[in-house]
Amino acid sequence: MEKGRESPKHESKGRRLVLFPIPLQGHMNPMLQLANILHATGFFSITIIHTHFNSPTISNYPHFTFCPIPDGLSETESEASTSDSVALLSLLNTNCVAAFRDCLAGLVLSGVEDEAKEPTACLITDAIWHFSQSVADSLEIPRIVLRTSSLSSFLAFAALPLLLEKGYLPKQDSQLESPVLELPPLKVKDLPTISTRNHEVFYKLIGSMVKETKASSGIIWNSMEDLEQSTLATVRQVFPVPSFPIGPFHNYFPASSSSLLAQDKSSISWLDTRPPKSVLYVSFGSIASMDEAEFLEMAWGLANSGQPFLWVVRPGLVRGSKWLEPLPSGFMETNGGRGYIVKWAPQQEVLAHPATGGFWTHNGWNSTLESICEGVPMICSPCFGDQMVNARYVSNVWRIGLQFESGMERGVVEKAIRRLMVEKEGEEERERILCLKEKVGFCLKQGGSSHHYLESLISYILSF
Ligand code: UDX
Repeated sequence: MEKGRESPKHESKGRRLVLFPIPLQGHMNPMLQLANILHATGFFSITIIHTHFNSPTISNYPHFTFCPIPDGLSETESEASTSDSVALLSLLNTNCVAAFRDCLAGLVLSGVEDEAKEPTACLITDAIWHFSQSVADSLEIPRIVLRTSSLSSFLAFAALPLLLEKGYLPKQDSQLESPVLELPPLKVKDLPTISTRNHEVFYKLIGSMVKETKASSGIIWNSMEDLEQSTLATVRQVFPVPSFPIGPFHNYFPASSSSLLAQDKSSISWLDTRPPKSVLYVSFGSIASMDEAEFLEMAWGLANSGQPFLWVVRPGLVRGSKWLEPLPSGFMETNGGRGYIVKWAPQQEVLAHPATGGFWTHNGWNSTLESICEGVPMICSPCFGDQMVNARYVSNVWRIGLQFESGMERGVVEKAIRRLMVEKEGEEERERILCLKEKVGFCLKQGGSSHHYLESLISYILSF
């Protein structure tokens, strides 16, 4: 969108927006992208309240004000670890209340008492910060929620109490392939559960997130009406507050500046040496992990497929290992230079590279959107939560990828890679995703749905 544009409809009032991201990569990227999108309209100044844990790289955002707050996490491995993200997010929702309230109250007050400071128009927080609704209420400022995942997965989260009542949950091994009649096309195995030490904590966290989203003044989605049209109609019934699907955020601003890990640029020079559409890019995002046996099945499936691959093996991806120790010595040599492994890649650049022909992904929503926007078909290996819903839509609704339906065994992996990279099935998926790429690309343009919703969002915020 045009930077700093002015229109008679939106007279600049110099208002401050206070944003509060969840300190995890897949949540931080879209929140900081949203901050840039709103700042570029020219109507708002941006203040980011953030935890010490996983704090953003402030020097990449000289145009924002940052307010760190203590998060009460001890330095011990277990408390600040993402290996149990439910426990972490639940703890953060308890630990941050007082510091967040004091910080926000100070910002709101300074905008009222000091004429040189902008008044605060509203608070925008990740949906997972459920406690922030009552803080916003007590300070009498509107709270808009940012939901960083797809609309369809949020509806599935919202339906969890009903699905528990109806006996779909907890998932029984014998029922995994059964359809969930209330949420087509999902199967029981696709329901967005997360393994955690205490399931009660999970259901409570999701319940509070859904309840406080309903109590908010609106929802911003990193998704598009054109992609999730029928779901949007249901979302409007379940969450009767204004919805603004203004994605895909990364098409306005890339995520590289909010990367919490250093991106290995040698991935790009390696891709430069490969033929067009020949490389399978493999990455499972910032949190997912697997055991050594699964990792080895992946490795041998990749090697035996004979296809070139660029593989992100994040330290911590393999439980109990520091990095590549589980790989047999000489593994990379047996691939004859066909494989390249990095700890973290500049993912958006990788997906946009002409040599990239497929993406083996865990279907985090950012990865899924980034793949759609570059027209790269997928192999889906969802690990937890919203990823299972996203993968079902990729494989069965949009039909732009294939999914492992029953575990990862090297022979199955090898076949799937060939199906995607060299067979007709992959070619058809590529054609469909290229059509979707075009459709989604239009959303941000004048006359496109996301463009329209962004205009409405700005008017809405300026009306507060
Ligand atoms: C988490 C959840 O797992 C996901 O399901 C949810 O939708 C958002 O929060 P994560 O697992 O990290 O996120 O996945 P994803 O949503 O795909 O986000 C990963 C981000 O990291 C993407 O923006 C991607 O571009 C970036 N990335 C990933 C890199 O920059 N380099 C890499 O090597 C891998």
